[in-house]
Amino acid sequence: MSWIQEAELNLRERLCASILKVGPMPEHVAFIMDGNRRYAQKCRVEREQGHSRGFEKLAETLRWCLNLNIREVTVYAFSIENFKRSKEEVDGLMELARQKFTRLLEEQCFLNVCFAYTSRHEITSAVREMALGVEEGLLKPSDLSESLLGWCLYSSGSPDPDLLIRTSGEVRLSDFLLWQTSHSCLVFQPVLWPEYSFWNLCQAILQYQVNHPALQKAKLLHEAACRHQQVEADRACVLEQLGTVGETGGTECKQELILKYSREREERVSNFRQRLENKRRKFLTDLVQSSAPFLRV
Ligand code: FPP
Ligand code: MG
Repeated sequence: MSWIQEAELNLRERLCASILKVGPMPEHVAFIMDGNRRYAQKCRVEREQGHSRGFEKLAETLRWCLNLNIREVTVYAFSIENFKRSKEEVDGLMELARQKFTRLLEEQCFLNVCFAYTSRHEITSAVREMALGVEEGLLKPSDLSESLLGWCLYSSGSPDPDLLIRTSGEVRLSDFLLWQTSHSCLVFQPVLWPEYSFWNLCQAILQYQVNHPALQKAKLLHEAACRHQQVEADRACVLEQLGTVGETGGTECKQELILKYSREREERVSNFRQRLENKRRKFLTDLVQSSAPFLRV
């Protein structure tokens, strides 16, 4: 039987889910699953047990998400910072990941697992990728934009999370999805991750629904500002080119040149993205091949 869909919601949960679904529902939810060790301490069990229960809670939460029509979930499973923990704990977490990833790979999952991840690292490598594109002549420096950087992130192809939830009462993002959450509803809940309940999730969704109009407005305004910036950037490039060749030209002629320039820019960006896509596919194929013996237990 499937790991995620082992049980249905009970009557009270189903009723609450139907009420929530009348309002706007988040399509993509991100979790910072925090508080495993405090839970272990509180319950006087081994640290490993805390992490293991944390994983079981993830399975349960994914089931709730499926029932709430949440199409995508992203979790912060292991930060690059976590490598600074004791060797024993890191080894234990790696072993847990090794076992659980095998199970995750068997599932039809709608889950993104951020492992050995930090957002600054992700953004830095996206900037490097664009710099490489310029160096190789695929891009012009003026082609660099917010949307292009977004495409260079590991999350490209996924919509930004509508809702980000952090448990355990900590009120910081700890270098998780810093770029992707600028218009997300951020909900910080005091509950420790292994004790997370369906009702905690409903409460977070309710908070999202209350803030939805303001979030939506800010997002639309930002998208419009980005489109405007792009038009202005193309115009500035054309005017600069005309200035260099000492050409003045009429308004209609300039308009045509701007349109031509935008088409060429879109083509450069599309070629660059295609190359990035191929590079990633190759990286993933190599990764799967090299980890196959490691994952088959
Ligand atoms: C934070 O609690 C949790 C982690 C660092 C590990 C999260 C991993 C899981 C829940 C298992 C999921 C595994 C996979 C393969 C998806 P903490 O250790 O920071 O506890 P504390 O905040 O109480 O110290
Ligand atoms: Mg913690």
